[in-house]
Order: sequence, then structure tokens, then C-alpha cells
Amino acid sequence: MKSEIARLKKEKNALIMAHYYQRDEIQEIADFIGDSLALARKAAETDADIIVMCGVHFMGETAKILCPGKKVLVPDMEAGCSLADSCDPEEFRRFTEAHPDHTVVSYVNTSAAVKALTDIVVTSGNARKIIEALPKDEKIIFGPDRNLGGYINAVSDRDMLLWPGACHVHDRFSIERILELKKEHPGAKVLVHPECRRPLQLIADKVGSTAALLDFAGMDDAKEYIVVTESGILREMRLKCPGKVFIPAPAEDSECQCNECDYMKRNTLEKVYRCLLDEAPEIEVDPAVAERALRPIERMLEMSR
Ligand code: 13P
Ligand code: SF4
Repeated sequence: MKSEIARLKKEKNALIMAHYYQRDEIQEIADFIGDSLALARKAAETDADIIVMCGVHFMGETAKILCPGKKVLVPDMEAGCSLADSCDPEEFRRFTEAHPDHTVVSYVNTSAAVKALTDIVVTSGNARKIIEALPKDEKIIFGPDRNLGGYINAVSDRDMLLWPGACHVHDRFSIERILELKKEHPGAKVLVHPECRRPLQLIADKVGSTAALLDFAGMDDAKEYIVVTESGILREMRLKCPGKVFIPAPAEDSECQCNECDYMKRNTLEKVYRCLLDEAPEIEVDPAVAERALRPIERMLEMSR
């Protein structure tokens, strides 16, 4: 299957991109692996004819909005995102209309329709930098992740109005389970994604996007880390830091030792092969929506250079 994927990829001038939360076998065949910000940047600059986005639906949409002339494929159209789903475009429109003097900042984990209602898109990798670049007295709506929004409000001394959305993976980590792990591994540092709840952010040695957590582990001198994000990131951490120990963090109510995103894990090697072969399923975005969603994504890319 891997050699067939390689053959089809060459024949069709396709680029396979994968998020760090993808299954190991997909990360192994990807041309490019990254966090949400890196995937958007790479999509904006590629000269491939076809992009295969191994991640979730909004990542495919973002690539399509940035490259309307390219064919953007996803291995499984049902690979959605609970965070993006927690923000209905009609309700979000009413929320923004109720606060017309506010700048609307949306996390990239949103539908194209929500991005079209947005002034600036952000990812977890650039949200703090972008918000801090806005004047201190600017009134801001931040959606849809209440945990990431709360984190920025705290560290950047802002008072953004938060949409009450959350990711079903990151919102399920609990401080009790992490403190239990800390007892077992007293020397371990705690790496926390900002989509996790505030108490976890407060006990973290590092809060950051998947790429920021990776960079931190690479430069830091500890030997052990408790990783409080989706466990797919452990593959890259172990590859980049072969001498170190990375311990996945469990969800609060789970028997399992790690916490996986079932949407991300819908993609399989076989589905990647089928989508390259059939050139389907293909992401389509209504051109009028795409036109309005492009500007806030471009502003993000400009502001996070
Ligand atoms: P980042 O890729 O920005 O770290 O976000 C994590 C995530 O949940 C992606 O869906
Ligand atoms: Fe969405 Fe959470 Fe899965 Fe990321 S981990 S794709 S935010 S549901």
C-alpha cells in the first residue's frame, strides 16, 4: 500500500500532508507533518496539483480556501471536529451582531462559514502573538475554544468575550489524573495544549500548540515529560528526542492510558490510498463563502510571519 501511494503521488503530482495527531502509518508516508499553522502555511505555498489533507475537515477547507484552483482531497469526509461543531454559524452570526463594536477572532478549528464571519483567524501556534499585536483597548470576540480564549485572556491581560466551545479530547483531561501521574514520575515536566482547561494550564511547565510543545521538548534538559494533548504527537516527540521518555496523559473518565481524537483516527492508510486513486472525496467550499473566509486567513498568515 505504501509503495502504491508513493507511485500515485508521483504520477499525480500530489502532496500528502498530515497533522501530528494522525495514525503513525500516515505520518510515515506524509510529505509534510505539522500543526494547524504549519499545514496552512504549507498549503499556501505548494505547487502540487493535488493536496491530500490527512487531518480533519476544517484543515481541508482551509487548504481549499487558500488554493481554490487545486484539488483538495481528504481520506474521510466524516473526519470532523467537535470544537468546530460547537460553533454553529447562524448562532455565531447572531453573537457577533449583538456586539458590532467587537473585532471577531476565530480559531482555525471552525467551519468556512464561521471563518467568513471573522476578522482574523488564529491557530494555537499564533493566537497569543496576534491578540497581543491588537491595541490593548480593542474589544474582541474570541471563538470557539473557551479554554484557549481563557488562556490568552489570562496571559495577555485581555478581556475577550468567549464563545463557550471546547474540544472533546482536550476538555477531557483532568488535573487529578495528571497529578497522579506526576506522583509516579516526579521528575517529569508537564506539557499542556491550550485547548485544555485552566487548572491544567496552571500546573504546566509549558503551554503551547503541538509544534511548540515539540520544540520545547527538543530544547529542554528534562528526561521525562507528561504530554497533555492528543497522543498522536508522541511519535514525533520520540523521533525528535530519542533519549527522552514521553508519557501520554489519560482522559479523566477513561481506562485507557492515552487520549485519542476519534475524528483524526478515522483516516487510515487504506483510505489515503483510495482517495489518491479515486481523487475523492474532494473538499468543496461555496465560492462566495471562500472569498469572505480567505481574508481573515491571509491576515493570520501576515500577522504571524
Ligand atoms: P494545533 O495543531 O494548532 O496544535 O491544534 C491542535 C488541534 O486540536 C488540531 O485539531
Ligand atoms: Fe477537533 Fe479536538 Fe480532534 Fe483537534 S483534537 S480535531 S480540536 S476534536
